[in-house]
Amino acid sequence: MQPFSFNTAASIVCGGGSSLALHLHCQRLGISRPLLVTDPGLVTIGLLEPLQAALASNGLAPVMFDQVREDPPESVIMDAVEVALENAVDGVIAVGGGSSMDVAKVVAVLLRSEQSLAEIYGVDQVSGERLPLILVPTTAGTGSEVTPVAVITTGETTKAGVSSAQLLPDVAVLDPDLTLGLPSAITAMTGIDAMVHAIEAYTSRHKKNPISDNLARQALRLLSGSVRTAVHEGTDREARANMLLGAMLAGQAFANAPVAAVHALAYPLGGHYHIPHGLSNSLVLPAVLRFNMPAAEPLYAELAPIVAGKTGADALVVELEAIIADTGLPATLAQASVPESDLAMLAEDAMLQQRLLINNPRDVLLEDALEIYRAAY
Ligand SMILES: NC(=O)c1ccc[n+]([C@@H]2O[C@H](COP(=O)([O-])OP(=O)(O)OC[C@H]3O[C@@H](n4cnc5c(N)ncnc54)[C@H](O)[C@@H]3O)[C@@H](O)[C@H]2O)c1
Ligand SMILES: [Fe+2]
Repeated sequence: MQPFSFNTAASIVCGGGSSLALHLHCQRLGISRPLLVTDPGLVTIGLLEPLQAALASNGLAPVMFDQVREDPPESVIMDAVEVALENAVDGVIAVGGGSSMDVAKVVAVLLRSEQSLAEIYGVDQVSGERLPLILVPTTAGTGSEVTPVAVITTGETTKAGVSSAQLLPDVAVLDPDLTLGLPSAITAMTGIDAMVHAIEAYTSRHKKNPISDNLARQALRLLSGSVRTAVHEGTDREARANMLLGAMLAGQAFANAPVAAVHALAYPLGGHYHIPHGLSNSLVLPAVLRFNMPAAEPLYAELAPIVAGKTGADALVVELEAIIADTGLPATLAQASVPESDLAMLAEDAMLQQRLLINNPRDVLLEDALEIYRAAY
């Protein structure tokens, strides 16, 4: 057997209404004054009101930080740390998508450690402890609630990751009720992001392992079976629960068997054109899988019956294209308004993501990246 290790969040709580019992986790973790990290859109639609009321009625008035932006820049982290310090918080709760959860993870570390943000980028660079941390996802996509990773925007077009075990939360609380109003386009993008996490974990070259494999298969069963319903009938509770659970399982899978070329080629699209993370993945997904076919065909063939109900690796790609079409997302880089003259520059940028590319089942050289972008155009 190939040696492997597997890590995930210490505790995972799933169920409709589970976000109304956060006080129980706070009590267990010794949190009396939590920082509540979220984004302004969620405040505007009133998504947090029931949860805040439940906290308040149990004697826990959270300190709000509601200024998270999509693809959060470093300045958001520093602002949140300042608010937390001014209010002497003793724990951090995120309610939101990957952006809010990633901010909360880093803030919980910075509030407890002597290290600066610049010192903790990279793998295993966090040396100290963090404040108690509770993550409550409101998108079914990133799986950030069970990954040791936070992705921060560091420049105009660049992102950097913090990847350390301390970023896994004490508790991940999955409440599908919070996702019932997720707009259909965000449901589609984040849902496909989650499917990509499972597929790339399943073919990850160096850390593929039997636990991640099982999780990836179960994730794909749930996600492919429910994504169309979640997009077109957003209030379907069962579909929403399947998506949230599937995204979390995919997160557990890729946290231990990392993602590869789909993500590597997606990152430059987010960096240059602010295309959302899930859509960036979706735009390059079929072309990357076709490129990978000579190396990954047997593994894709194992996933095809789960996703497509058919045999043969091609069926997997064809079904993913059908899902992208059925959910109404732009299907080509041209439809996403990416200038064709930029493709060579994007390919050079993608080559910078060696951290991800080394996990790809097939080597990706500069000319391959360009060919994939052309095929996706
Ligand atoms: N940490 C990780 O392991 C990991 C993995 C993948 C991606 N990421 C990062 O996560 C971020 C993307 O996260 P995301 O895709 O979850 O989106 P997000 O957190 O950026 O949110 C996107 C939008 O959806 C809205 N929204 C979220 N939940 C909603 C709900 N229930 N109802 C209505 N609107 C809602 C938000 O207000 C926001 O406008 C990126 O920064 C990406 O780099 C992190
Ligand atoms: Fe992703």
